[in-house]
Amino acid sequence: MARVFSGIQPSGELHIGNYLGAVRNWVALQERHECFFSIVDYHAITQSYEPAQLEAQTFDMAVGLLAAGIDPERCVLFVQSHVPEHTELAWVLTTVTPLGELERMTQFKDKSQLQESVPAGLLNYPVLQAADILLYKADLVPVGQDQEQHLELVREIVRKWNRRFGAGFFPEPQVHHTEAKRIVGLDGQAKMSKSLNNTIGILDDPERIWQLLRPAMTDPARVRRIDPGDPAKCNVFSLHQYFSPADTVDHVADSCRGAKWGCLDCKRVLADNIIAAFVPMRERAAELRAHPERVHEILRSGAERARAVAAETMAAVRAAMGLLPAEKVALRR
Ligand code: TYM
Repeated sequence: MARVFSGIQPSGELHIGNYLGAVRNWVALQERHECFFSIVDYHAITQSYEPAQLEAQTFDMAVGLLAAGIDPERCVLFVQSHVPEHTELAWVLTTVTPLGELERMTQFKDKSQLQESVPAGLLNYPVLQAADILLYKADLVPVGQDQEQHLELVREIVRKWNRRFGAGFFPEPQVHHTEAKRIVGLDGQAKMSKSLNNTIGILDDPERIWQLLRPAMTDPARVRRIDPGDPAKCNVFSLHQYFSPADTVDHVADSCRGAKWGCLDCKRVLADNIIAAFVPMRERAAELRAHPERVHEILRSGAERARAVAAETMAAVRAAMGLLPAEKVALRR
């Protein structure tokens, strides 16, 4: 059985981008693989954030994931900072990671442009990501397209570490995509992302979903209702493909091309279908929020199960690298 690892930052909400691009895949993979899923709070602090909000955002992300179908009976769900081996292995891996490769990462280049003084944590971000995956010796990593470059680097880190310290010790993890590997935001321009304020949250209430979708960008050629449009140039149409039945999608395309309806008519149908798709998740989330102790227990037990695997990997890594075992000096870890 393949091992699966993936992570999500608690810095934003669960929106239809990270849901369709990654989390929906996690839910499917937990049925047939051994899966570890982590809320990566140590990654979230590499960018400016509000300390007073991080704890609540971490809890909310756990609620969102559980509501979306992550099942603690079928996988291990935990918070990254509850398993200290993540940062420990990350340090070890920095010793074999080429600086030039880190500087070449597109996300680093984009994010560092936004800051006056660039923290080293932003540069080392993909090394922590490598540690996340390698602690569990995962073979498969379900992510969206934006993580491909980081995964390439993880494979290079594996090759370098294995060559120096132990052939075949870490497997080279493979990327696993859904057919929705890049969902574009409501601005019709960039990847859907909380930081760009172009998202629809899967737990948003129906009225908010409509308010967000109403001004969403469509084919710019449709200035007036009588102007025909091209569905291929419209992000609202691409969202229909994920939420509307096939005959509705055909009707949408035909009505757009023939200017038989306005963009608002088209968006109303999409809004109704998005709202309907997430009704069960909103209900599950409300129930979990009413019982926070259940969520805490799931995260406690998840961290314990993750730690058992992580501690074993870390002990083997230390041994392979020649560090004096703590046990030799009668120190308990
Ligand atoms: P994050 O938190 O930005 O996103 C979580 C997952 O959702 C995917 N995703 C998208 N997919 C399609 N369209 C979109 N608009 C969209 N937005 C987000 C992301 O590709 C990701 O799979 N660095 C990672 C978290 C991480 C991780 C890991 C992932 C840390 N350690 C180890 C895999 C393995 C990140 O910031 O994801």
